[in-house]
Amino acid sequence: MIDKITELRSIIERFIIADRDALQAFYKTFLGKKGEIPALFESFRTLSGTEKKKVGIVLNQLKSFAEEKLKQSEKSFSSKSFIAHQKKEDVTLPSFGPMLGGEHPLRLIQNKIILSFAKIGFNLLEGPEIVSDWYNFGALNFAENHPARDMQDTFFVKRDPVLLLRSHTTTVQILACEAGLLPIRSIASGRVFRSESISARSHCFFHQIDGMYVDKDVSFRDLKQTIYYVLHELFGEHAEIRFRASYFPFTEPSAEVDITCQLCQGKGCSICKQSGWVEVLGAGMIHPKVFTNCDIDPDVYSGFAFGMGIERIAMLLYQIDDIRLFSENHLAFLRKFVHAQ
Ligand code: DAH
Repeated sequence: MIDKITELRSIIERFIIADRDALQAFYKTFLGKKGEIPALFESFRTLSGTEKKKVGIVLNQLKSFAEEKLKQSEKSFSSKSFIAHQKKEDVTLPSFGPMLGGEHPLRLIQNKIILSFAKIGFNLLEGPEIVSDWYNFGALNFAENHPARDMQDTFFVKRDPVLLLRSHTTTVQILACEAGLLPIRSIASGRVFRSESISARSHCFFHQIDGMYVDKDVSFRDLKQTIYYVLHELFGEHAEIRFRASYFPFTEPSAEVDITCQLCQGKGCSICKQSGWVEVLGAGMIHPKVFTNCDIDPDVYSGFAFGMGIERIAMLLYQIDDIRLFSENHLAFLRKFVHAQ
């Protein structure tokens, strides 16, 4: 907890209060009812007696420090506006500090998901955005005439040999399996591309996280536990989760996973099409054909895999209703996330 307090103190120190909006944001983020400092006091209550003694002093110091900074800034604003009132342009006034940037909402969610998986032992892999047909389709057991191979869905870069922009991050699973360092417990995240028309709900590029666990005796139970754990980390303990049977060429059995709609809390709204549920990921047990394609013996090894769209999760968590906002770089949109975690 001391580490957390020290980190927060350095964030508060670096926080530039350049205008009244920033002043309000400062108060809300650190001192307000749902702010960081009251949250720390909340966890402080659960500490043991000896820990309380140590942490209490530092925590109180942090609170006074933040309150003092707020007070000083309030003062400087009232005097500034008074001077500004008397004389419109006073070139001797100190300039406002630079506006600090923040992480992009997709990056925030991506990091959150990666961190949740890291806690249960998944490492992070990377793969290229341009791949051959084999990595995107062939090795993943897509039939030769599967509709996803169609020009309408996939961006082709080169015809002979075929190169294309990956349409999912599941490609990285093949790279990991081919490398053959078993067991594998890894995730991969990045941009994917599909030839879709751009609208509030779909885009020609977006981001995914795919993952897999390959070892001896991996079962559907392991898949369920992993997905339950990560979705509860993301959406909170009370989010309800359900598995529905589905189909993917590279998993058997396959499932799609839904959570209770975060906007209406399961009551039914336009986002969840009145069903109370929204789909958040696809998953399943890795198909034996995928294993043999990568020279892994399916009689010895089994594994589960899953894949999810980062935009979809960010839209649910931050209640964003237009996927285009993620790539249009409007400052007003991006600034909303400067203080988000
Ligand atoms: N690749 C699938 C898609 O883009 C998502 C997916 C489903 C990934 C099941 C997986 C999986 O790894 O096991 O729609």
